[in-house]
Amino acid sequence: MTLSRTAAIRLVAPETNSVLSPRTAHGDAATMAEISAGLLAPQASTSPKYFYDSLGSHLFEAICELPEYYPTRTEAAIFARHGADMAARIGPGMTLIDLGAGNCAKAASLFPLLQPSQYVPVDIASDFLQQAAAQLRQRFPAIEITPLVMDLSQPLVLPQSVPIARRQFFYPGSSIGNFTPYDAVTFLRHVRENVGADGGLLIGVDLVKDPAVLDAAYDDAIGVTAAFNLNLLRHLNHLAGTDFDPAQWRHVAFFNDAESRIEMHLEARCALAVHWSCGERSFAQGERIHTENSYKYTLESFRSLLWDAGFRVDGTWTDDAHWFAVMHAVAAYA
Ligand code: AVJ
Repeated sequence: MTLSRTAAIRLVAPETNSVLSPRTAHGDAATMAEISAGLLAPQASTSPKYFYDSLGSHLFEAICELPEYYPTRTEAAIFARHGADMAARIGPGMTLIDLGAGNCAKAASLFPLLQPSQYVPVDIASDFLQQAAAQLRQRFPAIEITPLVMDLSQPLVLPQSVPIARRQFFYPGSSIGNFTPYDAVTFLRHVRENVGADGGLLIGVDLVKDPAVLDAAYDDAIGVTAAFNLNLLRHLNHLAGTDFDPAQWRHVAFFNDAESRIEMHLEARCALAVHWSCGERSFAQGERIHTENSYKYTLESFRSLLWDAGFRVDGTWTDDAHWFAVMHAVAAYA
């Protein structure tokens, strides 16, 4: 791990003299290489997983409360209205595997209806996850709670502690939209390989709608989404030792109709340069870093995507305006 070692030593501010302190350690070699490659590509880009440091996780929680950001509230209303129907379809006593669990609140609100025997929250944000799991154990002593720290952009491999029978995957919030459709199929195929014959997947998906509604949801009036996007630069400075100045960048978000996706970018307000231990890059005024895609589907296009991954849809629930959908999918063949 020459790279991370070099990086850790070089990037520590000399006056702190605390090379061994984990608080000042930068990301591992793989993280550094991934960030570096993204920044050096002709069209610079970063993975949306880097939004979620502690402040980023809190900013995302704030986004979910914005009047413009309809997905969270619309999905919650769908669960409130149709949760009993979903539970009846699934049947009690499953192992509920929550992909990208965050604070586990969504799944926990469904425990009384779904009645899982085991709950496996999976997330990349380890501290957040362990805390949430500890609180859940107190509230639901009858449910076995076994958190797993995993990067969902890597192939899904579940440990032996997760029984193979009655696995119900839970992937709410339309996080699937962060993958390109091609990568979404790959990801869902991995999920499919982990679902036994008697398991399934309960998944939330954001639907295509009036672009004005979509644009507003990702560029809100008081700038919370802008802060969420710009916070990425602070996180990169911490993770990779880059010297981004967030004040030099502007939040840009728009619906790309041809690709059926919201795109978020950070745009340089002036000509500038960014440096880090193993690279540097100059940006012209107006040049962008592509920071997120959020794909929007139709009911038909998402059903066909699930089908391509080996799933058959046996339940679809939406709101009256058809802004958001929750689908229950099961193995299409044994
Ligand atoms: C967490 C990926 C579902 O795409 O709507 C919200 C992230 N980005 N506002 C989404 C997000 C900007 C969100 N997902």
